[in-house]
Amino acid sequence: MIEILNPTEVARAKDTGALVATILRTLRSRSTVGTNLLDIDQWAKAMILEAGASSCYVDYAPSFGRGPFGHYICTAVNDAVLHGRPHDYALADGDLLTLDLAVSLDGVAADSAISFIVGDTRPPESVALIDATERALAAGIAAAGPGARIGDISHAIGSVLGAAGYQINTEFGGHGIGSTMHQDPHVSNTGRPGRGYKLRPGLLLALEPWVMADTAELVTDADGWTLRSATGCRTAHSEHTIAITGDGADILTLPR
Ligand code: MF3
Ligand code: CO
Repeated sequence: MIEILNPTEVARAKDTGALVATILRTLRSRSTVGTNLLDIDQWAKAMILEAGASSCYVDYAPSFGRGPFGHYICTAVNDAVLHGRPHDYALADGDLLTLDLAVSLDGVAADSAISFIVGDTRPPESVALIDATERALAAGIAAAGPGARIGDISHAIGSVLGAAGYQINTEFGGHGIGSTMHQDPHVSNTGRPGRGYKLRPGLLLALEPWVMADTAELVTDADGWTLRSATGCRTAHSEHTIAITGDGADILTLPR
């Protein structure tokens, strides 16, 4: 089902989006050499509950994972890219960390992910991966607006990722969002312009380009959740929740 939110609901979605962005910003600043992924998860939990929000993850048990996720944030390090399950691991200098967070506040969900390098080193391959997903996300947002189609967004994202030299995996992509985290329409990270659902004001989309350095193939970790690159190469993922407006799209997952 595709949900169209009324202006009151979109205003609530902005509150949820600002909360997600503020939590991610705080967690990024605390993610330094030696920080344990389980501490990041507990900090996320505390900030979600403190804000009176609820986690979209902790009880989530979709077909693509094994049982309830059981955690409050996805933490994906280096070759891990999607659905990274927090575990007992202390971050090292040069690690590429993705934090992916979705929460619900007053009945409306928002979803965002950031990738960044821990510590002081700047491995060029990691910088390029992050840069490509951020530019693809910006291109996807720029292609979104009333009257545009899902295929226009997919094409914009895929063009940037492809031009940066990456293969694109089509098993996981963006999605509609609203009263729940994962809704129709699916937003592939590659596609043909002019195809698919026509965007309308009040539609919320989570756009999430992600790439792996030298493959498009994923493998599932022994934890039953974490998705890693099949070759062990590094990966990156960037995500915002946006709202289609009367004349374009608003990014909801920005700090206020
Ligand atoms: N937030 C992820 C997405 O971008 C979904 C994570 S599902 C989880 O769609 F259960 F792993 F947390
Ligand atoms: Co998402």
